[in-house]
Amino acid sequence: MKKSNVLIVGGGGREHAIACALKKSDKVGKLYCIPGNAGIAQIAECVPSVKATELEKIVEFVNSHPDIELTVVAPDDPLAMGLVDKLEKAGHRAFGPRANAAIIEASKVFSKNLMRKYDIPTAKYETFSSYEKALEYVQTCPIPTVIKADGLALGKGVIIANTREEAEAGLREIMLDKAFGSAGSEVVIEEFLTGFEVSVLAFCDGKTVVPMASSQDHKRAHDGDTGLNTGGMGTFSPQNKYTPEMAERAMKTVFLPTVRALEKEGRPFKGVLYFGLMITSAGDIKVLEYNARFGDPEAQVILPRLKTDVFDVFNACIDGTLNRIALEWDERAAVCVVAASGGYPLKYEKGKKITFGDIDEDVTVYHAGTAICPECGEIVTSGGRVLGVTALGKDLSEAKKKAYDNIKKISFEGMFYRNDICKEA
Ligand code: AMP
Ligand code: GLY
Repeated sequence: MKKSNVLIVGGGGREHAIACALKKSDKVGKLYCIPGNAGIAQIAECVPSVKATELEKIVEFVNSHPDIELTVVAPDDPLAMGLVDKLEKAGHRAFGPRANAAIIEASKVFSKNLMRKYDIPTAKYETFSSYEKALEYVQTCPIPTVIKADGLALGKGVIIANTREEAEAGLREIMLDKAFGSAGSEVVIEEFLTGFEVSVLAFCDGKTVVPMASSQDHKRAHDGDTGLNTGGMGTFSPQNKYTPEMAERAMKTVFLPTVRALEKEGRPFKGVLYFGLMITSAGDIKVLEYNARFGDPEAQVILPRLKTDVFDVFNACIDGTLNRIALEWDERAAVCVVAASGGYPLKYEKGKKITFGDIDEDVTVYHAGTAICPECGEIVTSGGRVLGVTALGKDLSEAKKKAYDNIKKISFEGMFYRNDICKEA
């Protein structure tokens, strides 16, 4: 069989999970990854000197490697900056939304207004580009309230204010101190919702939407949902509280209306559309956020459960033939626990040597912030989230036990992880 070579753009745990999933396909030949990491380098040719945001260099790389038949753009920044558009313009196949569709993640003002226009259920909100007007609003709005920077902020641009003082301080931080740079030029201030959260990622080809298995992330740094927001400290799949009835309702009220809305606006969405949902105590399904890509570490529990050839699915999204694909899932549950560098998500040290121990065969250690030390040739830390340990099990409790049994075998100076990932189990 003819094999296709594939380039993955990105260098975290998500990209390692994508690389492992592609590696399982008998249609995929050589993998490349820009920039990649020490784990991905075990199965792909990595290019650590090029960043995922250096669009021209990436296009040049694909131009000069005619053997690359598909580029998978995984992170939010290059998608929002239009890497897929640039690759297509140069005549290459790319998986991921174009910039005009990726804006559903890159601008919260855009996504909230889209939901309002198309009656997609979400928290009530106001948007502000003037600090004075926003301040006036938070002085009288219901508390708690939620303040969100408009643009991309590594998942950290959301402030849940439990008091009016916190709301005023948060607003100052985003709009005046510019804690998230230009992402905070505009803000969304919205109603605080309660209930339980579920993430549903879906493949889209512009018209058809095929949801994947459900999952849930743990965003706070420390046990008991304390500490700062992070990119995600652990995930599990499935989220059993999300019932088939809810899934059916979400399809009708959220998934299809969103894809139709984007199509109608002349922004057809091809790629992975991530729905961050809140199921309120009244049982209503509301959208908390959209992402225009696989979640990280959601990908690390979803992709290991996907039995369908992911290379076929990526191609169906590009070709508009997703209606011919039915996804097959491993019945087993998956739990991923992230090992992070001491101090993350604030300041942390890099270059710590990692020892792995004897990891069980059915457990996968996805690399995120790792690198090969040029002097000693050993695997060292190079980021905040360093590794994601994913285990499969007959149910969530078994998967969770295996993930924790194995993360305990790993060590590096300053390593920490949450002890309560998937406390449901
Ligand atoms: P977002 O990046 O918009 O998903 O926000 C990050 C996290 O903040 C979510 O996963 C929720 O835990 C929380 N959050 C966001 N919006 C709301 C809201 N309207 N009500 C309650 N919690 C929220
Ligand atoms: N883990 C949340 C995200 O990828 O946005």
